[in-house]
Amino acid sequence: MSTPAPKKRVAILISGRGSNMVSLIEAARAPDYPAEIVLVLSNRPDAAGLDRARAAGIPARAIDHKAFPDRARFDAALQAELDAAGIELIVLAGFMRILTDAFVEAWTGRMINIHPSLLPLFKGTHTHERALGAGVRLHGCTVHYVVPELDAGPIVAQAAVPVLPGDDADTLSARVIVQEHRLYPAALALIAGDGAVLDGGRVRFTEQARDAGAAILSL
Ligand code: GRF
Repeated sequence: MSTPAPKKRVAILISGRGSNMVSLIEAARAPDYPAEIVLVLSNRPDAAGLDRARAAGIPARAIDHKAFPDRARFDAALQAELDAAGIELIVLAGFMRILTDAFVEAWTGRMINIHPSLLPLFKGTHTHERALGAGVRLHGCTVHYVVPELDAGPIVAQAAVPVLPGDDADTLSARVIVQEHRLYPAALALIAGDGAVLDGGRVRFTEQARDAGAAILSL
């Protein structure tokens, strides 16, 4: 019997409540999950997710961006924490701080984000309001590799939900977040298990991952 590949060491970066973080921590408890969550960092000391991570037994620290004179020095402090913990993959989960191009480029192919829309539609904020305003009948969420341009990185996985008559931003976001909590752990497993890799600006899937239909969750 071959020994299983070592689990990838993952840091989750948050700024808020951390519900996606919790779903990742829970998924990573499975013995055969290919990643382990070893660190949670927040740029906001008051992020509720920090206590939720600690309650789950994960080391969690705040690096308050307000304590740094510029983005480059904040990112250097982030990098130092990631290096000290031997991090191999960064997962952004509601992390509301723009990272410098230099930091993003240093982590090319090793940093992912979840965005609450079917990209490339509705980059940026207030995605649910804008989806309703545009009258789309399908909405959803996207996991993508992070590139310097905001919400523009190669797409790893998407989940779609219907937009129903009478929806407002709250009902729609509640429907989307349920899918975020399914999609993100599945996408991280795909990447940490080498089922998906970034290859020349596109995401390439192994045959096995493609056969498993892992790239798309259609609902
Ligand atoms: C999610 O909707 C995510 O897609 C977006 O920010 C929100 C974070 O929520 N990037 P949570 O902190 O994971 O609960």
